[in-house]
Amino acid sequence: MNDKKRVLSGMRSTGRLHLGHYFGALKNWVEMQKDFECFYMSSDWHALTTDYQDTSKIDENAFEMVADWISVGIDPKQSVVFKQSKVAQHSELFLILSMITPLGWLERCPTYKEQIKEIKNKDLNNYGFLGYPVLMAADIFLYKANFVPVGEDQLAHLEFAREIARRFNNFYGGVLIEPKECLTKASKLLGLDGRKMSKSYGNSIFLGEEDDILQEKIRNMFSDPLKVKKDDIGHPQGCAVFSFYKAFNADYMKREQECKAGSIGCMLCKKHLMEILSAFMKPFRVKRKEIIADKAYLQKVIDEGNQKASEVAQETMNEIRRALKF
Ligand code: TRP
Repeated sequence: MNDKKRVLSGMRSTGRLHLGHYFGALKNWVEMQKDFECFYMSSDWHALTTDYQDTSKIDENAFEMVADWISVGIDPKQSVVFKQSKVAQHSELFLILSMITPLGWLERCPTYKEQIKEIKNKDLNNYGFLGYPVLMAADIFLYKANFVPVGEDQLAHLEFAREIARRFNNFYGGVLIEPKECLTKASKLLGLDGRKMSKSYGNSIFLGEEDDILQEKIRNMFSDPLKVKKDDIGHPQGCAVFSFYKAFNADYMKREQECKAGSIGCMLCKKHLMEILSAFMKPFRVKRKEIIADKAYLQKVIDEGNQKASEVAQETMNEIRRALKF
């Protein structure tokens, strides 16, 4: 046992990762490895809450996602990389927590309300989807995680986890740890159209994107609509291109001044961005190709991670059962 604090985080295995995932959370995952004992999970049960009608891609996506993680710097020698559905304790604790979860807490959850309203192509009126935050709380508690690096969209779920931990500890004694979120310092990266970057909006730049596609996407990227000629005065706030300069920390204050002074045009600004993005993607692509070619290695990483995660999760489950007098 070491005395490092614990970190747990997860991502739903629903498809390719984009730069929003990277700057929103993954960058923190990589950085936290040196100071904490980290557990990183492909949450395939969470993917099932929305993709239950077509499950054909969930497993393959998990594989691809883990390849992405390793390619950006998650090191399986330092961190435990595993699959939620292979560690049975997640479903066990989910069941127990569901007994003490007030329905009102779930129905009031802002992510729940928003998604029920926004997502029209799937029927999400089911028990599992309502219980999404309960499963997420179980994920966190099993590893006694102190910190959870996530994107801003997950904050309500962490608040929920803390409330459930308090309620559980009140009933049965203090076994569960109240987790804290860790947000990345990077400012919000906008999608190609100026809205939040999200796969469902079709406005993403994916990790490992090839140069020709990058070029095309950047060319069409939303910029300041008031800046028509290159020496027009620009408004970098709200410009998607500028949000990238900020996220990549690429001398953005200078760029902001140039844009506001009308001394640089959008075409040149986009050309520079292409150079930044292309240089960022290149080593990632090389590494990813290597990893994907070695399926046996990836499988071994996940198998070993499942094993280690199960051991830790079982220890916690023993304590929880004792607390419940079961
Ligand atoms: N809900 C998270 C997301 O959509 C994924 C997730 C599942 C998670 N379990 C978790 C994140 C536990 C942090 C901790 O991004």
